[in-house]
Amino acid sequence: MATQIKTVGIIGAGQMGGGIAHVASSAGFDVFINDLSIDRIEKGIATISGNLARQVSSGKLAEADRQTALKRIRPAETYQALAGCDLVIEAATEDETVKRKIYAQLCPALKPEALLATNTSSISITRLASQTDRPERFIGIHFMNPAPLMKLVELVRGIATEDATFEAAKAFVAATGKTITVSEDFPAFIVNRILIPMINEAIYTLYEGVGSVEAIDNALRLGANHPMGPLQLADFIGLDICLSIMQVLHDGLSDSKYRPCPLLVKYVEAGWLGRKAGRGFYDYRGETPVPTR
Ligand SMILES: NC(=O)c1ccc[n+]([C@@H]2O[C@H](COP(=O)([O-])OP(=O)(O)OC[C@H]3O[C@@H](n4cnc5c(N)ncnc54)[C@H](O)[C@@H]3O)[C@@H](O)[C@H]2O)c1
Repeated sequence: MATQIKTVGIIGAGQMGGGIAHVASSAGFDVFINDLSIDRIEKGIATISGNLARQVSSGKLAEADRQTALKRIRPAETYQALAGCDLVIEAATEDETVKRKIYAQLCPALKPEALLATNTSSISITRLASQTDRPERFIGIHFMNPAPLMKLVELVRGIATEDATFEAAKAFVAATGKTITVSEDFPAFIVNRILIPMINEAIYTLYEGVGSVEAIDNALRLGANHPMGPLQLADFIGLDICLSIMQVLHDGLSDSKYRPCPLLVKYVEAGWLGRKAGRGFYDYRGETPVPTR
């Protein structure tokens, strides 16, 4: 029988962990959130509080529901505080060594029947599962960024994931109101496997002088009806993240069609990582973004 999920633990109070906590608490789950320090946890909860408040001011959420959702989120300074969780979603830094260390310390604290999930964008679910004491109760639950706004969640089974785990994860995601797509455990799953090479191709188009930043973004916005141009989207995602996903595809599938564009590498080397750095394919330091090429 599939585990009934009521209490959810989240490791990592960053962009994704915070977003997942927001989504889960709004859907009525009790949430415990963990990070490296109480300061980081509190900062994460403050961001969630601000995002919930924004939903209230835009009329999407009632003030009473904001308060209830916020009350359901509690800080967990230690892994022992996650002992009562039915599901723990790891959304820590995208670094296999970091994740491996977390599982080694976390697993002994969890109840034996608890499910463990990762929000990784690109690391093999099967390999991560093998680092835990419960590969059959391990699964990829891949929320998109920003989690409260994006409607899709990719569910990724590792080779050992049991049907009951998959069903429980499916029920959890359905309860959050998101739509599921199921992906096999291959590099970058479905969304990033298609999206990031498209962005890389847009960067090649710029690199080869086929078009300017503006020409390329307008072409896809108006000619393919994309809500954002590919270079604008790359800046939003972060150019370091785009590069690292291309490297995962290149290494994992050993196909030269996934080679990262040298111009993408150059922007990352310059620290021009997109919006978060103030500069990428656009310069965000003024009032309106200005193309950098
Ligand atoms: N940002 C995205 O667009 C996106 C989208 C989907 C999935 N993801 C995945 O989500 C995960 C988190 O990404 P993010 O963008 O939220 O990163 P982030 O840098 O915003 O947050 C990561 C958090 O993990 C914390 N952390 C690091 N080591 C820890 C440990 N040992 N214990 C507890 N917390 C620890 C950090 O302090 C940080 O607060 C990654 O696996 C990433 O691949 C990211």
